[in-house]
Order: sequence, then structure tokens, then C-alpha cells
Amino acid sequence: MRVLLIGSGGREHALAWKIAASPLLTKLYAAPGNPGIGQDAELVRLDVADHAAVTAFCKDKAIDLVVVGPEGPLVAGIANDLRAAGIRVFGPSKAAARLEGSKGFTKDLCARYNIPTAAYGRFGDLASARAYVEKVGAPIVVKADGLAAGKGVTVAMTKEEAFAALDACFEGSFGEAGAEVVVEEFLTGEEASFFCLCDGATALPLGTAQDHKRVGDGDVGPNTGGMGAYSPAPVMTPDMVERVMREIVEPTMRGMAELGSPFAGVLFAGLMITDNGPKLIEYNTRFGDPECQVLMMRLKDDLLVLLNASVDGQLSHMSARWRDETALTVVMAARGYPGTPEKGSVIRGVEEAQADGVRIFHAGTAINGGALVANGGRVLNVTATGATVAEAREKAYAAIDRIDWPYGFCRRDIGWRAVAREQAN
Ligand code: AMP
Ligand code: GLY
Repeated sequence: MRVLLIGSGGREHALAWKIAASPLLTKLYAAPGNPGIGQDAELVRLDVADHAAVTAFCKDKAIDLVVVGPEGPLVAGIANDLRAAGIRVFGPSKAAARLEGSKGFTKDLCARYNIPTAAYGRFGDLASARAYVEKVGAPIVVKADGLAAGKGVTVAMTKEEAFAALDACFEGSFGEAGAEVVVEEFLTGEEASFFCLCDGATALPLGTAQDHKRVGDGDVGPNTGGMGAYSPAPVMTPDMVERVMREIVEPTMRGMAELGSPFAGVLFAGLMITDNGPKLIEYNTRFGDPECQVLMMRLKDDLLVLLNASVDGQLSHMSARWRDETALTVVMAARGYPGTPEKGSVIRGVEEAQADGVRIFHAGTAINGGALVANGGRVLNVTATGATVAEAREKAYAAIDRIDWPYGFCRRDIGWRAVAREQAN
């Protein structure tokens, strides 16, 4: 098979690595990719937002499958445009990607299908949103409806914070994404991520993970795209997975089909495990980054076979096998992240730091004058497997200590909650 992978982050490096290992693959291209992905794929300069250009490339290179990593192109409808040209695509249609592209859409779906989630209101103007906050009180959560690069959510501990978040949305801080808001109940519990592979009718559970969103040790400081993750998530017991499938994922699949926009692709459920059971915080319609990196380390099966089954509506015949080990990834970021990261600093020793059970995925890297340099906020994902979370963590940090990059930083406590659980048992 001839495959085009779209994206340029650590998630896409992990996908490229697994796709490259498939006996079905004859040629892998990646657009735009990064230097790590370039070890597994031929990088192509394509403007991914230009769907006609991507289509022309696929025709020219006789591409059999396009795999879309990030949400932006999905929400912009790249899957529709490629399919209209007869090209097979792994990823949801524009209408199905509303599960990520519009928080209000997802909340209404939950209400209609009795899917457990935080109580909410949807508002298109400041006055009515403020009135709702006045009525419900704090803590309360304010969310821009659309894609806001992970910055559109404010967990407000006071009404004043909630009002400020509403002002930001309606003043245009998030552009069109904030023209409408969801205001919702504050949930407490333990967060977990749950991934399913879907083909429009069937959802095949893939695995669970937990990430660390805050930039600092001890889960403090500003939110990021994720500073590290591990899989599986101990809180997602087999019973809990079954409950999430029954109460959340299956009604979602049914609802999307009934609305005429069946969901195919990766369904990534962000969950809060509360005292009253699992509740949906949000959906994403693609793999998580860096959650994908830990999932790919644990996947025993051929990823391309699974992706093909999703595209062809064959998932009801499939299963996926996973290594029993834990996988853990630590994000190395450039100084300044999540604000303005410093670009261009030289990174040495990445190849040498890889070892048995340790893989280093590239995220924001570039080659400059023959040297590997930082070229983004999250730069490397140092990923390891182990019999326990503690062992995986030790291997990941040992690899990090071999990397020579004075301008990079990472959290030193990834997996702390799971390690504490292991020690308590
Ligand atoms: P999201 O971008 O929707 O994943 O939200 C970012 C983070 O905000 C989540 O990972 C949660 O930690 C937090 N969050 C979102 N919604 C709620 C909620 N209703 N209650 C408590 N925390 C929330
Ligand atoms: N790590 C969270 C995400 O990919 O959305």
C-alpha cells in the first residue's frame, strides 16, 4: 500500500513508525512531517489546508490511503474532499468531526441520547451566558464552542473568573471559535482518556491513558497540550471500560448514525470518573498527542490492518492485541513553552539515548545546518515500556538524562499518580 500521513507532531511520528512496520506498506509519504518522521517516510511539502493540492498529490502518487493525524484538517473537511475524489481516507467526515469541532453539538447529542456529562447551557451572547453563571454560581466551567488550540476552556473557581472568560470569548480572543460558548457544571473525580477505533457502526476499544496537562511538577502552572502520558490508565478497570462503552461510546455511535453523520476514525473520549460513574468531558476525533505515542508502543497488531478495517467498515470482525506492559512518555519542551518557546537550540544525543524498550519520537524538531534543533513548543517525546509504571518511568528518565539539550525542559514526575498507586498495592 502507498500511504500519505498528514501531520507533523509526535503523534504522527508514532503513527509513521507503526505504519512503516506493516508488511502491507510499500511507500509512506508524510506532509509536512518532521525529521524524525523523515526516518520512516518521504517528507513532502504540501499545504495541507489546500485540499485540491493534497488530492492532486494523491492522484499523482497513486496513494491508497490517507491517514489524517490532527483535528484541524478533519474539521475543515479534508476527508470529504478526498473521498469525493475517490481517495480512501482514515478519519471522520466534517459532519462527524463536529464531535470535536463544536462542544455545543456534542453536549446536545449527550442530552438527546442520555449520555452522562456535566449539566450545561449553550449561549450566543454575553448577557444570557452571564445570567446562567449568576444562577448556577462557581466553580463553573466556560468553554469556547469551537477549536481553540487547547486554550478555550476555563475552569473558573469564582464567578469573576467565569465572567472574564466569557468576556474573552465574546470579545473575539478565540475568533469564530468563541462566538458561541458552553457553560457547564464543574465535575470532580479522576480524569482518564479512552480511545476507540470506529467505522461508522462499530467502535473497537483501543486502550486507555492518562496525561499531564499542566506544565509544572505536581500538576501546577498553565495548561499545555500535554507534558506526558501513560497507558493503561489504572482507573479504567475492565468494568469501567465496559460501562463507558455502554453508557457513552455506543449511544454516541448510534446518535451520529441517526443524525446522518456516522463516525469513522479515532474517537477519543476525555472522561471524568466521578463518584456517580463516568462522565464525558469532551470528545476529540483523532488520536491524542502524546497519548498516541504510548498506545503505539503497546499495540501488537498491524496498525495498517486496523486502519483499513475502519475505512472499509470491517471493524466488527476485528480485535486489537496489546502488550501487558505499561508505556510512559515524557515530553521534552523548549524553554518558554507553553508561552513563546525559544526556537533553534541544538539537541544532541537523541539517537544514542534510544535503547531497548525506549523510543524517542520527534515533535517540534528541524534540521539546521546538519544539526537537530528545537522548532516548536513540545519537541521530543521520550517513550518507554516497562513491567510497571515505575520501571517505564525510570527508563524514560534515564534516556532523557543522556540527551544533551540545555535549552529543553521536562516534568520529572510523569506518572506520579500511577506510581503512588503501585507503591500502595
Ligand atoms: P478540554 O479542553 O475540554 O479537555 O478541557 C481541558 C481540561 O479542563 C480538562 O482536561 C479538565 O481537566 C478540565 N475540565 C473541562 N471540563 C470540565 C468540567 N466540566 N469539570 C471539571 N473540569 C473540567
Ligand atoms: N493530549 C491531549 C490531546 O491530544 O488533545
